[in-house]
Amino acid sequence: MKRVVIVGLAAALLGVGAIAIGQDNAALEGIAKYREMLKDGNPADLMELRGAALWTTPRGPRHATLEACDLGLGPGVVDGAYARLPRWFDDTGRVQDVESRLVTCMVTLQGFRAEDAMRDWYRPASDLEALVTYVAVQSQGQPIDAPATHPREAEMAAIGEVLFFRRAGPLDFSCATCHSQRDRRIRLQELPDFLDPAEARASITTWPAYRVSQSNVWTMERRLIDCIRQMRAPDADFGSDAIIALETWLQKQATGGVLSSPGIKR
Ligand code: HEC
Repeated sequence: MKRVVIVGLAAALLGVGAIAIGQDNAALEGIAKYREMLKDGNPADLMELRGAALWTTPRGPRHATLEACDLGLGPGVVDGAYARLPRWFDDTGRVQDVESRLVTCMVTLQGFRAEDAMRDWYRPASDLEALVTYVAVQSQGQPIDAPATHPREAEMAAIGEVLFFRRAGPLDFSCATCHSQRDRRIRLQELPDFLDPAEARASITTWPAYRVSQSNVWTMERRLIDCIRQMRAPDADFGSDAIIALETWLQKQATGGVLSSPGIKR
């Protein structure tokens, strides 16, 4: 019985009748039109404003703001920082993405404990997701410049690539199962082929994004954690090296793409 259920689930997810190739362009055009209509009033703009307010509000045990946070371009420099993340940081001895770096600043500047800074990351309109949105928007119009040239960044990108192809979980899916072929989709959702730099750029430059189906802004970490859940693979921790490795590889694939976040997604 259990086997039947799993096989049925795999079939549903993998394609028997679910992944349509190049079919029904009208549906895709409909989504494109919908995105166009929402462009002038993306609800993510409210998240950006909240993030901007959080950035300058004294908070935490030290009652300090985040204005001196170093996102890689020096203390307080937000402009263009998102386009260059993830990157190596000497002070923490880690390759960090925007989420984990914000947690570092909340700990070092504001005196939060890391567990407290991360605790509610998944709640609708969480502080962390608002801050990520604010930081990302300050790179709007700039090309992604995360070529992973530092040896530790190169190592993380290589790990991310291995993880992308690694099959795991009861369905034996890898990221590549769904994201390495052209013109694939599950129901109405297009599945970007991340092996193709043009598709990687088109996707990665639109995150963080407002997800209409969730009525909420999602950051890239959240997107990846949810894809891992869809794979029925063991949960990945927020801020973990596995997630950052995947992001490092994806950003490298998308290098040169001009950021237009926040995007709008199904
Ligand atoms: C079972 C198929 C499946 C697997 C396996 C999968 N994903 Fe996804 N992924 C999706 C679907 C479906 C979406 C679009 C979701 C939506 O729009 O609702 C998506 C969206 C994404 C996006 C955002 C694309 C965009 O711009 O809208 C990224 C990035 C991504 N996946 C990365 C990954 C990574 C990395 C892995 C492996 C850890 C992975 N996915 C595994 C199905 C999958």
